Amino acid sequence: MNVIVVGGLGQLGRALMAVLAARGHSAVVWDMPEVNITLPAVADAVVAARPDALINAAAWTNVDAAESNPQSTYAVNALGPRWLAEGCERVGAQMLQVSSNEVFAGQPGRFYFENDPMQPGGAYARSKAAGEAAAAAACRRLIVARIAWLFGPGGVNFPTKIAEAADKHGALRVIDDEYGNPTYAPDTAAAMVRLLEIGRAGNFHLVNEGMASRYTFAQAVLAGSGRAYVPVTPIAAAEYQRAAPPPLHAVLVNQAAAALGITLRPWQDALREYAATLPAPNPVLPGNAS
Ligand SMILES: NC(=O)c1ccc[n+]([C@@H]2O[C@H](COP(=O)([O-])OP(=O)(O)OC[C@H]3O[C@@H](n4cnc5c(N)ncnc54)[C@H](OP(=O)(O)O)[C@@H]3O)[C@@H](O)[C@H]2O)c1
Repeated sequence: MNVIVVGGLGQLGRALMAVLAARGHSAVVWDMPEVNITLPAVADAVVAARPDALINAAAWTNVDAAESNPQSTYAVNALGPRWLAEGCERVGAQMLQVSSNEVFAGQPGRFYFENDPMQPGGAYARSKAAGEAAAAAACRRLIVARIAWLFGPGGVNFPTKIAEAADKHGALRVIDDEYGNPTYAPDTAAAMVRLLEIGRAGNFHLVNEGMASRYTFAQAVLAGSGRAYVPVTPIAAAEYQRAAPPPLHAVLVNQAAAALGITLRPWQDALREYAATLPAPNPVLPGNAS
């Protein structure tokens, strides 16, 4: 396949490029500043490029900053997918739109299946839900792939932040009543490419098996990166002020992809592999703190 990876320089985009190359597909990166998906002309650019498939991994991903920039967020996360989908439809290409667990309300105790109704809360979540809907309205060969707590090589993510904070502070306080699915970029990228190869449209949840609280995720990061000595205190989400409070239990179930034989390994196994690549512990010594 000839594939365009929009947002190909991002955390997920890089993993997608690696998987596509490994599976013998030819892929090109479209990213800022050369390609800006908020511009309607990007649809014509897709038509001119005539790809077999396009993956949109570009997004406004700063969830808290989205609250004070809802228009810019909407332009990237909702209008962008619309223009890309229009271009794909005009040349009969498949499109894979990457979306988020945050499109769901995340009610405590609930688990979300692929066709459950969306109920987004904040500006980022609303823009991602609108992006799904806009792409679905424009492109018949659309795959929506929802993922959750993404981590992978080259990214700034929860594990890198936990390791850095552990070295800086020597002790951590981490939320234990927010649950989600840790999602390893190389694993979900492989699943996305597999879906394109199969060519079945629809909604899919491509997260690693199992769920975690932020607290258990952090403990696994510390254990896997040689920082098990760092004490972690569990706290409630209500104690941690954020501009965009996240859904507390937007836990995804992979039912549709599993029916096609696509499952991802347990997140603990993926994290073990990744955590071993994090920088070795480098605690800030008393009196040296910056
Ligand atoms: N990270 C998570 O935990 C998470 C969780 C659930 C879902 N997701 C979804 O997963 C996807 C990938 O996330 P990620 O963490 O890999 O994101 P990322 O590392 O922030 O990469 C996104 C890429 O999109 C580019 N981009 C932003 N605005 C653009 C525009 N107007 N036109 C073209 N490119 C633009 C960015 O360029 P600049 O860097 O120059 O802005 C960046 O290279 C997104 O759809 C995100 O919503 C992520």
